[in-house]
Amino acid sequence: MMSLEVYTTSEALSFKLEEWRQAGMKIGLVPTMGALHEGHLSLIETMSVRADKIIVSLFVNPTQFAEGEDFDAYPRSTDDDLRKLRSTKAGIVFMPDASEIYGDAITASLKAGNLAEGLESETRPHFFSGVVTVVHKLFKLCQPDAAIFGEKDYQQLLVIKKMVSDHDMRIEILQGTTLRETDGLAMSSRNAYLNDSQRKTAINLNKIMRDFCNDYHSARELNRLPSLEGEAIRKLQEVGFTKIDYLTVRDADTLQTPNTETKNLRLLAAVRLGEIRLIDNCAI
Ligand code: PAJ
Repeated sequence: MMSLEVYTTSEALSFKLEEWRQAGMKIGLVPTMGALHEGHLSLIETMSVRADKIIVSLFVNPTQFAEGEDFDAYPRSTDDDLRKLRSTKAGIVFMPDASEIYGDAITASLKAGNLAEGLESETRPHFFSGVVTVVHKLFKLCQPDAAIFGEKDYQQLLVIKKMVSDHDMRIEILQGTTLRETDGLAMSSRNAYLNDSQRKTAINLNKIMRDFCNDYHSARELNRLPSLEGEAIRKLQEVGFTKIDYLTVRDADTLQTPNTETKNLRLLAAVRLGEIRLIDNCAI
């Protein structure tokens, strides 16, 4: 077990980082909004292969939530998070408050690139601007050599990779595979909102997506995608999802509608159970 140091200010953090840099350590950053689960912890484990020292940030970022979204209700469990982190290879937890990150007022926000268009942005138009703004700030404050993001939030992962190349940041972006519950549901801090009956319905999201992949693989014809998408959406409605924001196959690199040039395909979905929104995706 490693000793874990908690920092709440960037000034104190900068002294520690200087010490690590002087010692020639390679620094890895794992950004999170807390309410940690095994998926988050797996990112730390993956990062430990690439970095000598690991910073985990816990910050529920207000700018990526719109008015009426779940910022206030978002699960916060700092004591539990710290307990979990003590048995990982993380060396530092950075837990700033909003004024540490944004000062008295949020005056400047970054624009997310073209990969942010569509999908999540259809229903959460503000979201990626908030994400790139906070991740850019975390990168500046933590000065990591590498950072890791989960495939669970696939569009977010691509948007951040693009931000790093657009801003010529010398940070290696690693990606972590999606950890799932034994019944296939992708782990998510928001799963805590599900009641027993919703939890049972939620299993069907991954199941229907897996069926989609199997059906597609039987012939692998791009022109079958629209009818398979329609069928999957019908199934999602039948099992009780109250709204399907999207279920669509995209080019895994550009997020555009696939064509004959497309090399890799990705199935992405966002669905709702009442107020609760679940997302998932997989390679096909
Ligand atoms: P959060 O939802 O806390 O997720 C933190 C990281 O954990 C993200 O990179 C996310 O993709 C990854 N993750 C979530 N569920 C996972 C799972 N089941 N398996 C593996 N990795 C998983 O994503 C955010 O926070 C924020 O938008 C953030 C990037 C921190 C910016 O505020």
